[in-house]
Amino acid sequence: MTRGKFIALEGGEGTGKSTQARLLAEWLAGQGLDATVTREPGGTPGAEAIRSLLLAPPGEGWGSRAEALLFAAARSDHVEKLILPAMEDGKWVVCDRFVDSSRAYQGGAGELGDDAILRLHDIGSKGVRPDLTLLIEVPAERVAERLALRDGGNADAIGGRDADYHRRVGETFREIAARDPDAFALIDGTGTIDEVQSRIRSVVAPLVTGQS
Ligand code: TYD
Repeated sequence: MTRGKFIALEGGEGTGKSTQARLLAEWLAGQGLDATVTREPGGTPGAEAIRSLLLAPPGEGWGSRAEALLFAAARSDHVEKLILPAMEDGKWVVCDRFVDSSRAYQGGAGELGDDAILRLHDIGSKGVRPDLTLLIEVPAERVAERLALRDGGNADAIGGRDADYHRRVGETFREIAARDPDAFALIDGTGTIDEVQSRIRSVVAPLVTGQS
């Protein structure tokens, strides 16, 4: 059985990752591949429970270190119980966010640094990396409009952080991708859902060749 591939979608808030992940999985299925779509934090019962703790924290909220550890713990469960077994079964896994979100949010914007996040990822998830990471980029002013429509005043504990935090998230994503161009595809997230999806398909298509 050929091992399935692992594709992650990354980007800041409101860049359309969830919709695009679902459409990508549907397209892969149409190519004759067994594709599963999942998300972080979450994807397994344990990781979904940790998601609730992270996005609606009890008490006064988490310190930056505890927050990074919780994301790493959720990812560890997700990788061990869902992602790796699915790939070993020949399934393609499309994941809405993965470790590069921790590098951008906790490592960059949260100031823990990239080395600490990568160390946690080695411990929690044996350093597993996607075969390809799609970084979806939308200019900040467009994102603000989309989020006002999507969340109104009800953003979660992390989405609701200030504009400076989210600016640093975006900068860190771009730095990480620039340092490792073979692992990332930059996707222009502006335009219609279909336009963005067709950009995504054109960068994923070479991976599909020979797999169906
Ligand atoms: P979600 O509702 O999935 O956000 P979005 O729709 O914008 O993708 O909530 C996930 C939140 O958690 C989002 O604010 C990003 C944040 N996050 C981190 O800070 N670190 C991580 O490692 C991950 C996976 C998510």
